[in-house]
Amino acid sequence: MTADTASAIDMETLHKVVGSLVADYNAAMASALIYIGDRNGLFEALNGAGWVTPDELASETGQSPRYLREWLSAMACSGYVQYDRVADRFCLPPEQAFCLANPDSPAYFPGLFEMLPTWYANAPKVADVFKTGGGVPQHEYGEEFWRGFERFTRAQFLNHLTQHWIPGVPGLEAKLQAGARVADVGSGNGQAILILAHAYPNSQFIGYDNYPLAVASARQRAADAGVDGRVRYELRDVAQGLPGTYDLITVFDTVHDMVDPIGSLSAIRRALAPDGVLLWTEFNVSGDLAENLANPLNLAKFTYSASTLYCMTTSLSQGGAGIGTCMGPHKAEELADEAGFGSFRRVPIEDPFTAVYEVRP
Ligand SMILES: C[S@@+](CC[C@H](N)C(=O)[O-])C[C@H]1O[C@@H](n2cnc3c(N)ncnc32)[C@H](O)[C@@H]1O
Repeated sequence: MTADTASAIDMETLHKVVGSLVADYNAAMASALIYIGDRNGLFEALNGAGWVTPDELASETGQSPRYLREWLSAMACSGYVQYDRVADRFCLPPEQAFCLANPDSPAYFPGLFEMLPTWYANAPKVADVFKTGGGVPQHEYGEEFWRGFERFTRAQFLNHLTQHWIPGVPGLEAKLQAGARVADVGSGNGQAILILAHAYPNSQFIGYDNYPLAVASARQRAADAGVDGRVRYELRDVAQGLPGTYDLITVFDTVHDMVDPIGSLSAIRRALAPDGVLLWTEFNVSGDLAENLANPLNLAKFTYSASTLYCMTTSLSQGGAGIGTCMGPHKAEELADEAGFGSFRRVPIEDPFTAVYEVRP
């Protein structure tokens, strides 16, 4: 540092910058170990096991005690396990178990950590398209990425879909109970409509996705779930139009990824019955950076990053709109308007992560 730069530097700000970099780097490193703990079944093994030594965890899991001591120590530094220095034992407390070892909990996070190796593996490809334009296509994100994503969203669907999102739309629950025609657009591995099919046995469901691997995995899930007759999945780019008429169309966390969001939303509008409804979810962030910076949860730190590394880049890879993850409600309403919808309403639910929109023809 020269005398000139030293005098221009405010030491308090410098400490904050260094603190942020240390926190980010610590989080990135600890995240790799959360990934390993999840992959190797260590959180499950610790769940309900009480206080254990690395040797005891090693006998329980068949893994190396030396590695387990290092891993447990790292998890203790993150506060995910507790350490008893006198007994030299570790334990996974119930709150940590709720988030790390209970796949049905609304706060189940390990799926997100399963996505990490792909975020990082694809980062050099994304760096290249910064310079060349274009994007990184969906098929570059492999099976592990999607499995992680699905494990995360499954917990959201399981805990919010029939409990908060559907009841948040007046009259919708009664319609589904009586028997409704439902399409899920961008159905991924199909779990949202499987949950709906169990909850509303008089209704019929179809999922549309334009990614062949997603459709194959959704079909397999429907067969395993024994709801084959009432739930179907079809390979289709919805921008090309939707066959049939529906009382409910759902689109979960997908519009911001689309190559042609206006074309797709217009096709959805045309496929809705006159009294039908589009139930649409997005991440609960603003389209305005200044508002996102003021948000105490700082969820946009994740969503701008996910946008750059997947959502925006996969859309741009096909010359698409590249709207990105931080769309916010104003942009969503603008898109609905442009696609010809007559009404747009944000469903009034308390959810720090998800915004739900009720849109009508
Ligand atoms: C982020 S994933 C969300 C999957 C699922 N809705 C969930 O929340 O678990 C977006 C999905 O939308 C699909 N998709 C994107 N654009 C589409 C389009 N135009 N037509 C059909 N599916 C599309 C992708 O293939 C992907 O499976």
